[in-house]
Amino acid sequence: MSNRFENKVLFVTGGASGIGRATAQRVVAEGGTAAVVDLDLATAQAVAAELGNGCIGLSANVADEQQVKAAVDATVAQLGGIDLSLAAAGHAEFGPSAEWDSARVLKMLQVHIGGTFHVCKYVTPVMKSRGNGSIVTIASTAAFMANNNNVPYGAAKAGITGLTRQFSLEALPEVRINCIAPGRTITGMTTPLMIQRGGDMERGEEIFGAGIPMKRMGTADELAAAICFFLSQDASFITGQTLIVDGGETIS
Ligand SMILES: NC(=O)c1ccc[n+]([C@@H]2O[C@H](COP(=O)([O-])OP(=O)(O)OC[C@H]3O[C@@H](n4cnc5c(N)ncnc54)[C@H](O)[C@@H]3O)[C@@H](O)[C@H]2O)c1
Repeated sequence: MSNRFENKVLFVTGGASGIGRATAQRVVAEGGTAAVVDLDLATAQAVAAELGNGCIGLSANVADEQQVKAAVDATVAQLGGIDLSLAAAGHAEFGPSAEWDSARVLKMLQVHIGGTFHVCKYVTPVMKSRGNGSIVTIASTAAFMANNNNVPYGAAKAGITGLTRQFSLEALPEVRINCIAPGRTITGMTTPLMIQRGGDMERGEEIFGAGIPMKRMGTADELAAAICFFLSQDASFITGQTLIVDGGETIS
């Protein structure tokens, strides 16, 4: 393991589970520390304690601008700044459009697009004041291909790819912003769906994996590896881009 993140501070929303948590684990393993931000304070603090290396847990609903601002301010006060950020907070809800009213659609857009915007808005000036930084946003393969019963989530994720491109221009020259679009990944979000479809995890994983050219789902750590590439100086000349990490699901 290299030490790409020695003394770096990561601000991660949705950090208490899945892809966010796996990314914090990698950053800590490579010498960094993290502010783990999630809906529930006790869970965020428990994950931070498990990560060690000075990590802190904070609560914020990313849909609420003032809560994100307060979490950024608390991170700067307690950890001295922010060098890296991952906007991974999100929820998945599916169903035919006839079942969605505008309030429910707006909530989906506010958590995903609004939440990503709030993170970029408040983290970017902190990074600029330090001279550099790297932010990663999270879209989905749903931004690029249509699935049944997926209009609001797919629209929100497509919006994040556009937000990333637009914001990355504004954040230059000090800050890079890139996006990862995961395919089917085993996390807290997909576990209930897998059990619902397959009856148990093993069968659910088989069913979800069958439609992927690699014949399996991805792991949170495989997504974290790609995210850490963008976060690190290995990606020092890349900004505004979206990388699809999906075991080949979108290649044909
Ligand atoms: N797992 C997949 O297959 C998959 C595929 C494509 C995209 N994604 C995206 O990856 C990101 C991470 O999801 P995951 O799979 O790790 O799921 P997860 O459920 O394991 O983790 C998501 C975390 O976000 C938190 N969260 C949800 N809403 C929040 C809010 N409003 N404010 C703050 N925190 C909030 C949850 O409490 C949870 O801890 C999400 O944006 C998701 O849409 C996941």
